[in-house]
Amino acid sequence: MTRRRIIAGNWKMFTDLEEAVALARGVAEATARFATDVDVVVIPPSCLIAPVVSALGESHVGVGAQNMHPEPRGAYTGELSGPMLTSVGCSYVVCGHSERRHLFGETSEFVGTKVAAAHRFGLTPILCVGETLEEREAGETEAIVGEQLRRGIDGLTKEEIAATIIAYEPVWAIGTGRTASAEQAQAVHAHLRAQLVKRAGAQVAEAVRIQYGGSVKPSNAGELLSQPDIDGALVGGASLKADSFAGIVGA
Ligand code: 13P
Repeated sequence: MTRRRIIAGNWKMFTDLEEAVALARGVAEATARFATDVDVVVIPPSCLIAPVVSALGESHVGVGAQNMHPEPRGAYTGELSGPMLTSVGCSYVVCGHSERRHLFGETSEFVGTKVAAAHRFGLTPILCVGETLEEREAGETEAIVGEQLRRGIDGLTKEEIAATIIAYEPVWAIGTGRTASAEQAQAVHAHLRAQLVKRAGAQVAEAVRIQYGGSVKPSNAGELLSQPDIDGALVGGASLKADSFAGIVGA
């Protein structure tokens, strides 16, 4: 089965209003010629989702959020819900980015409630998994990402699993300039897909798109994306310039 590639740019906390609108327009223009073949997504800071959606107009570029709370509404000061995100034109949401896990103490169980809520509220979740350098060196990579995956998709139906995007982001490769080699990434992606086969069967596992993230740039994207189980990229730093992001989409 051929899975449609998906390239998403996680802008983290790096753009203000003016920069975000200009970047969104630049991305739409620079990636337009790839629109028939690749899903292109930008993930701005939450307060800039609405202006980015309006700047993108009818373009091919989808918009995602970097985080959300699993409850639809309530007394959760500082949080955003799925229905709020869809109401401003957002269609994807990153769940369990390593920065959320490590800097803000999000557990795999909590991340799993977000993934389930995303499906319930009509958003496509991008579930992030990844090991630290210490865990990799201790030979624990497969166990760690396997457990993050298992808890992340806990309770989902097969249809929901098929519609979940997984992002493998080794923590040691994020923002460090140190990319996993294509072989290292492929090995983990194959392991994740094997876990999905056990959980949901081969047909569902074959449908799931698994992105790689961690220092992806135009110069290494081609090799990473040529691996059989790498179906896209979740890009941080290189997504902040329209031309470098378009270079990755082109790859
Ligand atoms: P970098 O591409 O800057 O390494 O960030 C990756 C990432 O965390 C995307 O979510």
